[in-house]
Amino acid sequence: MNKIKVKLCMGTTCFVMGASELQELVDILPEKFGDKVEVQCATCLDLCSSSSEGQAPYAMVDYTVISKATVESVINEVERKLKNGQE
Ligand code: FES
Repeated sequence: MNKIKVKLCMGTTCFVMGASELQELVDILPEKFGDKVEVQCATCLDLCSSSSEGQAPYAMVDYTVISKATVESVINEVERKLKNGQE
């Protein structure tokens, strides 16, 4: 089974918009989902420059962009993908 890849943006724009809270996911996701997920922090996901993708902070769960990401919304998306067999 492929792991779900979570990327958390820690770039300046996302960081000032609240991404510092998302850093908690680096510990929470492996505790909650074990080796089904892989978490990475990115310096910029190149989403902050495109207004069509919503608002910072951004995270990506596989190829799904999460705008205004929160700890909860990222966990919900991982759960949704696990339930749907990763689409
Ligand atoms: S700083 Fe987060 S997408 Fe650019």
